[in-house]
Amino acid sequence: MRYWLETAVALLAPSLPVVLGQHVRDLSGDGWILSSPALNQSVAARVPSHAHLDLLRAGVIDDPYHGLNDFDLRWIVNTNWTYTSDPIHELSKDSDSTWLVFDGLDTFTTIEFCGQFVGTTDNQFRQWTFDVSDILKNCHKEPVLSLNFGSAPQIVDAIAEKPDAPQWPFGVQQIYEFPNRWFMRKEQSDFGWDWGPAFSPTGPWKPVYVVQHPKKESIYVLNTDLDIYRKGQINYLPPDQSQPWVVNASIDYLGSLPNNPSMEIEIKDAESGELLTSQSVNNVEVSEGAVTGHIIVDNNAAKLWWPTGMGNQNLYNVMITVKDGDKKLAQVTKRSGFRTIFLNQRNITDEQLAQGIAPGANWHFEVNGHEFYAKGSNFIPPDAFWTRVSEEKMERLFHAVVAGNQNMLRVWSSGAYLPDFIYDIADEKGILLWSEFQFSCALYPVDEPFLQNVAAEVVYNVRRVNHHPSLALWAGGNEIESLELPTVQDEEPEHFAKFIGDYEKLHISLILPLVYENTKSISYMPSSTTNGYLDIDLSAEVPMAERYWNTTDGHYYGDTDFYNYNTSESFDITTYPVGRFANEFGFHSMPSLHTWRQAVDPKDLEFNSTVVTLRNHHYPPGGWSTDNFANATTGMAEMTMGVEAYYPVPYKSDSVANFSSWCHATQLFQSDFYKSQIQFYRRGSGKPERQLGSLYWQLEDIWQAPSWAGIEYDGRWKVLHYMARDIYKPVIVSPFWNYTTGDLDVYVTSDLWESVSGKVSMKWLDLSGKSIANNAGTPQSTKFEVGALNTTNVYSTNLSKLSIPNKKNAILLLSIETEGHMPNSAEKSSFSHNNYFVPAWPKDLELVDPELEVKYNTLSGKFTVEAKSGVSLYTWLDYPAGVVGYFDDNAFVLAPGEKREIQFVVLDDKTVGNWVDDVTVKSLWDQTTRD
Ligand SMILES: *[C@@H]1O[C@H](CO)[C@@H](O)[C@H](O)[C@H]1NC(C)=O
Ligand SMILES: *[C@@H]1O[C@H](CO)[C@@H](O)[C@H](O)[C@H]1NC(C)=O
Ligand SMILES: *[C@@H]1O[C@H](CO)[C@@H](O)[C@H](O)[C@H]1NC(C)=O
Ligand SMILES: *[C@@H]1O[C@H](CO)[C@@H](O)[C@H](O)[C@H]1NC(C)=O
Ligand SMILES: *[C@@H]1O[C@H](CO)[C@@H](O)[C@H](O)[C@H]1NC(C)=O
Ligand SMILES: *[C@@H]1O[C@H](CO)[C@@H](O)[C@H](O)[C@H]1NC(C)=O
Repeated sequence: MRYWLETAVALLAPSLPVVLGQHVRDLSGDGWILSSPALNQSVAARVPSHAHLDLLRAGVIDDPYHGLNDFDLRWIVNTNWTYTSDPIHELSKDSDSTWLVFDGLDTFTTIEFCGQFVGTTDNQFRQWTFDVSDILKNCHKEPVLSLNFGSAPQIVDAIAEKPDAPQWPFGVQQIYEFPNRWFMRKEQSDFGWDWGPAFSPTGPWKPVYVVQHPKKESIYVLNTDLDIYRKGQINYLPPDQSQPWVVNASIDYLGSLPNNPSMEIEIKDAESGELLTSQSVNNVEVSEGAVTGHIIVDNNAAKLWWPTGMGNQNLYNVMITVKDGDKKLAQVTKRSGFRTIFLNQRNITDEQLAQGIAPGANWHFEVNGHEFYAKGSNFIPPDAFWTRVSEEKMERLFHAVVAGNQNMLRVWSSGAYLPDFIYDIADEKGILLWSEFQFSCALYPVDEPFLQNVAAEVVYNVRRVNHHPSLALWAGGNEIESLELPTVQDEEPEHFAKFIGDYEKLHISLILPLVYENTKSISYMPSSTTNGYLDIDLSAEVPMAERYWNTTDGHYYGDTDFYNYNTSESFDITTYPVGRFANEFGFHSMPSLHTWRQAVDPKDLEFNSTVVTLRNHHYPPGGWSTDNFANATTGMAEMTMGVEAYYPVPYKSDSVANFSSWCHATQLFQSDFYKSQIQFYRRGSGKPERQLGSLYWQLEDIWQAPSWAGIEYDGRWKVLHYMARDIYKPVIVSPFWNYTTGDLDVYVTSDLWESVSGKVSMKWLDLSGKSIANNAGTPQSTKFEVGALNTTNVYSTNLSKLSIPNKKNAILLLSIETEGHMPNSAEKSSFSHNNYFVPAWPKDLELVDPELEVKYNTLSGKFTVEAKSGVSLYTWLDYPAGVVGYFDDNAFVLAPGEKREIQFVVLDDKTVGNWVDDVTVKSLWDQTTRD
C-alpha cells in the first residue's frame, strides 16, 4: 500500500515526527517487483523485506528454516537481487528539492531512479539520503526506483582478494559459514554463527521514502537525539543525583532552516498527560544538518524511571518543536524517562576495602545512583530475517524476560542495532539493554573509508536510540579483548603492538569520542569482556588506557566469560571464574520435540540424524562446507556426555519418544549447569569479589536448533528459563557441594536493598518421601539474617558427619520464608524460595515412581499436580503445539502428599482453548522407563 503523508495534517504515533510543509511518500508495502539473473521470472515483492521472504511468499522456495535449507538455498546468496518499484505517481516537478531517504538497505546496493544512477550503499546500519532533484526534473515519465543488491559473500571475498587487503594472524578471525564477514558493515551473524544459520539476507529491510521540499526553508526530520542527564554529568564518572536534569534535544534534518529558528520543549507524563514543563530553548544551535537546544528541569520535578523490580517505569512524552517565528517547521515527540545509568569501572576505594571488598576495580551498574544486582541473559537476533520480527512476538519475549525475574539483557554484537519498537517495549517493562556496536570475534579493518563508514553508523545509532531509558551501556564489540587479542599474542607476538594499535584505533580512538559527543548519559566500554581501564584522558590520542593483562593476583577487575565443554567438571564450582560480573556463560541443549517438528521431517526426528546433526552449528562448519559432520558431531557428543555423566540415559522403545526424552535430558543438564553457576555468581555479591551481575548465554533462539537458548524459536520455555526464573528470585537459598571433600554449605543470598531475616527449613527425606531419622543430624531449621545485596552462610557440614543410611536414596529439601521491601517500595512483600540437594548424581538415585497426576480445574483455570508415592524430581508440565505461554512453575520437586496448583499463562492460542486437554506431566522417573 502506498499513500501520501500530508504531514501538516497527520500525526501517526508519538515517535513519528510531524514534518511540516513538505511531501513525504512512503514506499512501504506492495507494489514492488523482485528479480534476479538466477531467476527466470520476476515475483511480486514488498518493502521492507528480504529477498528470501518475497521468494517464500511467491512460492518459489520452501520455508528457509526447513530441514537443511540453510545449505540448500545458497543459490539465493550467490546472486544479485533487484527490487524495482511500480512507477511513482504524482511527484511534483516544481519542488525545490527531491530526496530519496532509506532508513536501512541490506547491504551493498546500487540505486537507480528514472533509469539514472543515483548512488551506492555499503552499510546495513546507516540511514541513507540521496538528492534526486535533477534526475526528477529531467525524468520524462513516472519515475521508477530500482535497488540492485549485490551478493555480500561475493563482494567481501573480492575485497579480501585485493592486494592491499589487511590480513590477520591465524585463528584470530572466527569463521562460522561464509568467510570475510569483517569486511562488511552487515549483521555478522548473517554469515552464520554457532547458534544460527547463514542466509545472508538481502533487501530494503527498513522503510523507503521520497521526500519533496516544495520550497526553501522546509525540513524533514531524519533522526532525533534526545539526551536526559544530570547537569555536569560525565559519561565515565558517577552522576551527581542532587543536580537538576538537562534535557538536550538535537534534530538531524534534511533541507534548509531559516537564519534564527526557535525551539520549544514540552514534557508531559506519558500516562496521565500531566504537564511537567514547557519551555523555550535559550540558545538554539544550528550546525550542518542538525538543530540543537536544551532546557533544565528541577532535580525532583520528574518521577524517576526504574528497572523492573526496583520501582516504576515512569515515562514522559517529550515534544520538541522547531519554529520560524510563529510558523512550525518540525515537531518530534519522543517517549523517554528520567534516570541515570552508569557502568562503574573505577578503582576500588579505601572505603570499599574497609568493607572487605578485594582490591582492583569495580565492574557493576548503578541506576539512579544505586548499585544493584543485574540478572538476565544475552539477546541474539530473534530471527535471521528482521523484517518478520513482529511486535507481538517481541512483547511475548519481553513478557518472558520480566516473568523470568530478569532486569537486564545484553544485546550482543553482531546482530543488528535494535529497532526502536524493541527499546520501547523494554522501556515499558523496565528491562535494561546493554547495547553493543556490531563487531564480534574478529579484528576489523582500520583504513580511512572503513573508519568513516563505521563513524556514520555509530553516530546515527547512538543518536537514534539515546532517548530510551532502557539503554544501559554502549560496548564496542564482543570478546575481542578477551579472545582475539590474546590469540594475536600467541600466534604473532612480534605483531602484537600493531594489532593492539589497530584495535584501539577503531574501538577507542574512533568510537569512544563519537559516543561521548552524542550522549552524556551512557557509559562506553571498548569490548564486552574486559579488565577495564586504568585511566581516561579525553585529550589523549587513545583516550582510554586499558588495563589489559596488567593485573595483580588477588585483585579483581572486570567481567567474566566462561565456557567449559569438559562435562566431567561442570559441577565443580572451583572451575568457575571469580570476577565482578559474569556477562556470558553457558552450554548448549536440544530444543523440545515440539519445536523440532516445526523444522524437520518426521523421519529426521533422531538425536544424531543427518538433519539434526547438521543443524547443530556448535561447532560451526567453518566455511562453505555443507557436510562438516566432524564439527557438528563434536557438539552432539558434548551434549550426550553431559547427560551420560549425570542423568539417566533414555532408552525408550519408541524412537520418537526416545528422541524427545534425549532432548529433555540435555535440557536438564543445561539447566543444572547454569543454576550451579548463577548461584555461585550471586553468592559472590557477599564475597570479596563483590560480584554484581549474571547474564547467561543466551535468552532466545534464532531458529529451531541446538543452542544455549532458554527460550525456543516460537517462545516455548526450555527447562533453563524456568530454572533461571526461580534462581533469579530476590532471596534464594542454595546448597554448595564439594563432591570430592564432602563439604556441604548452605547460603542465603539476597539482592534486596535492605537486610532481611527469617528461617531456613532443612528437611531430609528418602525418595519415597519418608523423613530420614533424626533429620540425618541436620537441624530442622535455622535463623538467618542477610544484608542488602549480600549473602550469608546458614549451615555447613560434611556429608561424612551426617547419618544418611543410603546417599542414593536421600534428598535435602530447603526452603525459606521472609518479608521485606522490594527496592523503592513502601509496602512489604513476602519472599519464599525452595531448593534441594541430593548427595548423588541424578543417574545414581534410587528413584521411586512418584505416580504423578495432573488435573485441570475448570473453575480456577489451574492445574493441580500431585505425587502420590515418591519424590518427584524435575516435575515437568508440558503443553502441546499451537499455544504459546508458560506454566507459573515448572521443573520443581514435589514430595508425596504435596499438591501444587499451577497456572498456564497463555500468550497466544491457536487451539481455541483445546490445548488444556493435552497438558501432560512427567518427572525424572519417566526418563528411566522404557515406555
Ligand atoms: C550486483 O550488485 C552490486 C551492488 O549493487 C553491484 O556493484 C554489481 O554491479 C551488481 N552486479 C550485477 C551483475 O548486477
Ligand atoms: C587505578 O589504579 C591503577 C593501578 O592499578 C592506576 O594505574 C590508575 O591510574 C588508577 N586509575 C584512576 C582513575 O585512579
Ligand atoms: C599493560 O597496559 C598497557 C596499556 O596501558 C599495554 O600497552 C600493555 O600491553 C599492557 N601489558 C599487559 C601485559 O597487558
Ligand atoms: C571445524 O572444521 C574445520 C574444517 O574441517 C576445522 O578446520 C576446524 O578445526 C573445526 N573446528 C572445530 C572447533 O572442530
Ligand atoms: C551422537 O553422536 C556422537 C558422535 O558419534 C556420540 O558420541 C553420541 O553418543 C551420540 N549421541 C546419542 C544420543 O546417540
Ligand atoms: C573441593 O575443594 C578442594 C579444596 O578446596 C578443591 O581443590 C576441589 O577442586 C573442590 N572440588 C569440588 C568438586 O568442588
